[in-house]
Amino acid sequence: MYGCIRSLRRSWNLVQQVQKLPSLARCINTTTPFPEFGNMTDLRSHQDLYRFSLTDPQEFWCRLARTRLKWDKDFTTTFDSNLREGKIAWFLDGKLNAAVNCVDRHLPIKGDQVALIWERDEPGTQEYYTYRQLADMVGQIGNVLRNSGVSKGDRVAIYLPMAPITIATMLACARIGAIHSVVFAGFSSDALASRIQDAKAETVVTADQGVRGGKVVELKRAVDDAVSRCPTVKRVFVYQRTEADVPMGKQDILLQKAMNAESPCCEPVSMESEDTLFMLYTSGSTGKPKGITHSTAGYLLYTTTTFKHVFDYKDGEKFGCVADIGWITGHSYALYGPLSNGGTTLLFESTPTYPNPGRYWEMVERLQLNHIYLAPTSLRLLLKSGDSWALNYDLSSLRKLGCVGEPLNHEAWEWYYRVIGKERCDIIDTWWQTETGGICISPRPSTPGAHIEPAMPMRPFFGIDPVLVDHDGQEVTEEDAHGALCIRSIWPGMARTIYGDHKRFIDTYLNPVPGMYYTGDGAHRHPGGALQITGRMDDVLNVSGHRLGSAEVEDVLDDHPAIAESAVVGFPHDVKGEGIFAFVVRKDDAVESEQEIADNLRKKVKKEIASYAQPDQILFTPGLPWTRSGKIMRRILRKVAANETEDLGDVTTLANPSVVAAIVERRAMLQ
Ligand code: PRX
Repeated sequence: MYGCIRSLRRSWNLVQQVQKLPSLARCINTTTPFPEFGNMTDLRSHQDLYRFSLTDPQEFWCRLARTRLKWDKDFTTTFDSNLREGKIAWFLDGKLNAAVNCVDRHLPIKGDQVALIWERDEPGTQEYYTYRQLADMVGQIGNVLRNSGVSKGDRVAIYLPMAPITIATMLACARIGAIHSVVFAGFSSDALASRIQDAKAETVVTADQGVRGGKVVELKRAVDDAVSRCPTVKRVFVYQRTEADVPMGKQDILLQKAMNAESPCCEPVSMESEDTLFMLYTSGSTGKPKGITHSTAGYLLYTTTTFKHVFDYKDGEKFGCVADIGWITGHSYALYGPLSNGGTTLLFESTPTYPNPGRYWEMVERLQLNHIYLAPTSLRLLLKSGDSWALNYDLSSLRKLGCVGEPLNHEAWEWYYRVIGKERCDIIDTWWQTETGGICISPRPSTPGAHIEPAMPMRPFFGIDPVLVDHDGQEVTEEDAHGALCIRSIWPGMARTIYGDHKRFIDTYLNPVPGMYYTGDGAHRHPGGALQITGRMDDVLNVSGHRLGSAEVEDVLDDHPAIAESAVVGFPHDVKGEGIFAFVVRKDDAVESEQEIADNLRKKVKKEIASYAQPDQILFTPGLPWTRSGKIMRRILRKVAANETEDLGDVTTLANPSVVAAIVERRAMLQ
């Protein structure tokens, strides 16, 4: 048995804008959080450093890159980027390896330090893995992959539960230069197949089964189904999580057995800074999910820096990011950020309510976690269960309380601050995206002790220049204002492209406002400069912190033989943040009842996307509100879904205005 498995330069405008922000400029501190800049006597405060990061990004990031990463070959140019031309390149001519940076370089001093705490599904059955054990696993898997024909630039699809083997497989890919493409193990076989096909992956790594919330998840079965439609796949490695007797085909290989036959010594490939480290699919407002790609050096530098400074991570602390590795949060703050800093990171296999709503808090006490980083949706769920679950446990080890993925409402913020943090821990509401690679807006780092405003991420990270833009693409300069959130600077962690579709990348993120990165989110700038994110401005839904394109769900619904057309919108949901509301038009010749069709639609969405994508409400309507120019007027549907039907605004541009009354009438019958 394998032992280890057990056990821009910016103009004066910006400088002036920053100076106008009293809450950001309030206190001056004489120390810099970055010793790299210690000899620059004019950088005496957080504020000075932030300004410097925008006025001289070359020098700012160059110093950090040289001191925080281990390079095989130094870079010659800090960046050569132009957002108008869609060109983003950092640390040119430099060479490095991400796995070496996350594991090998810590071995001399931290070989015996715990790198991973595996919080398995059953509470109290955690396992610990040191850096040395992790290094051995990474080396063996690297050799397994290499000897089976995987080489630099090849895509490896990873469909695994949250476990040390998953982290080791990702790092093994990084070690041999392969591009990992992790697919969330909650996605259906159809969703997995389309991601394998888009990436043209030849290799899949999966497990016999997953275990989550006391339930078994049939991962291998889903892979078998997916792979039957993926002719590119040549090999499937199977990790035995439960040791269930799953059918093994010709191309299936038991991972642990293959590892046992390999040496832990695996020569790392020296990667160019801009070589792709990984790709990760995320939903857009139109079309199929896009494979966002991230670079080796820029991504690593950005996650290592944000991890350390946003959470004020101190050596020896235990960082508890409970996100699944199938999402960017897991990539950046369960793996690359903590491990590149030589930290101890948690891998959470379970759910927030298994076996009861005290799970997180019991775990914090048992493992003595110093940080917890979670999604607002779980906070909303847990606070509904009452305070007693949290009050049962000693949470004094906690120092910082992070959250990400969706707006953190006031009630949840207060609960987090008072009941969990006992009013002594900073609440770190972090805003970022799959595409940004790492955290871009968060209350920390900032001047020590600076005020944290409830329910907003507030402050830009070093090097991030957030701008609000109006409908005409013009910068909104008023202090207290709303607009589309854009970023005018470049930063090393930003995505480089959409796999196989650079044009879509440019059209989605760089063309909407030339010279800026367009986030797709709306934001409000409060007096003093603090930023609050108000939500997506496009047709992307955010369900329990998971991104989902309304078009993705509509595609599945429209494909049902009884459905003529459909429209999907979000509506406010107590726990999920946003729920899914589907308006569907039944074909005249459909014979099944509405109830039967609705049940089938939900099953179909679960099968073709994932459980979380199933509509909360399905409303059968005689038609949809089409404009004369052929667009569905979603504004009306959003109001109807939210049950705000008194004032639906101007409907005169609709091709079929009478349909609105019929939809409203049907909606009233749902209550
Ligand atoms: O709408 C924003 C929301 O999540 C979107 C990004 O989703 P994804 O790429 O899946 O990454 C989630 C984890 C980084 C954003 O466009 N979002 C993320 N963080 C916040 C947020 N909305 C409000 N407040 C946040 N802190």
